[in-house]
Amino acid sequence: MDWIHTQFPALSQTVKGQPVAFLDGPGGTQVPQSVMHAISHYLSTSNANAHGAFATSERTDGVIKEAHQAMADFLGCDAQEIVFGPNMTTLTFSLSRAIGRQLKSGDEILVTCLEHDANVSPWLALREKGVIVRTIDMNPQNCTLDLADLAHKLSDKTRLLAITYASNAVGSINDLPRIIQAVHSIGASVFVDAVHYAAHGPINVRALDCDFLVCSPYKFFGPHMGVLYGKKEKLRQLLPYKVRPASDEIPDCWETGTQNHEGMAGVIATINYLAALGKQFSPAVTDRRAAIVMAMHETHRYGQQLCKPLVEQGCFMLGRVKHP
Ligand SMILES: Cc1ncc(COP(=O)(O)O)c(C=O)c1O
Repeated sequence: MDWIHTQFPALSQTVKGQPVAFLDGPGGTQVPQSVMHAISHYLSTSNANAHGAFATSERTDGVIKEAHQAMADFLGCDAQEIVFGPNMTTLTFSLSRAIGRQLKSGDEILVTCLEHDANVSPWLALREKGVIVRTIDMNPQNCTLDLADLAHKLSDKTRLLAITYASNAVGSINDLPRIIQAVHSIGASVFVDAVHYAAHGPINVRALDCDFLVCSPYKFFGPHMGVLYGKKEKLRQLLPYKVRPASDEIPDCWETGTQNHEGMAGVIATINYLAALGKQFSPAVTDRRAAIVMAMHETHRYGQQLCKPLVEQGCFMLGRVKHP
């Protein structure tokens, strides 16, 4: 904890003479000094657009490449499968519009009542095309997803399930491996909102076998940006909305316009911070992905330890806040 405290300047603030504690998980996280440094270093040495034959542009190309690899290490996939964008909401609207191009009237999309609206409205927008959006219920006694309702609503008309990894409202973590298997068995795709979950545990998109997953680095100690993972074959098979001169190659064809390069420099530092945190627990680990997974396991363990007394004392009851 001492090492962590020294990384975050925001933690040395006082409010009315008292040290601060940030309990604003749903609103985002504070960033380590290394992330601030990486952003300002990029702006002071390399600020340029991409693909130019001059030094700052070449450095920018390097940052873009490295940022994709950093997020690939965080999620356990290939760099080509990583798409950057302004935030999760914008990326989800881009993807839903592209998916909508391949849907017809009467096709169904399932969302759940545990979703943030950023994982509902982009799918509701497809009602313009006659797509039907159905909502999976939760079990009211413990705020977990009603799997019987999911099984009941899955049908040969289902094209996609949009589901959160963890609810930012009640904290329920969905049993994604089981759910994804059920959805794939009827030939539909799965889009996972991992925005809330990403700060709390390791993510392995290959093991999950989800088709798409989104997260936002500002929720795990990084800058305000969004990241979309898509299976290579899925990203290639869809037709994104883009300008004509833009590349047709993935992931470039999904990254419309000029990207937030200083944010990408910050994302590289964010991922390196997490890897450094993992190495605090396991100094012998040299592989970045392994160090990140270690950091996220330890974060999860520590979070559980903090919550346990609250749960045991009945402050939280099965994911719901129990008011005294
Ligand atoms: C679970 C969840 N999904 C999506 C979002 C929206 O993310 P963004 O602000 O990156 O669009 C949030 C933001 O709080 C969230 O908590």
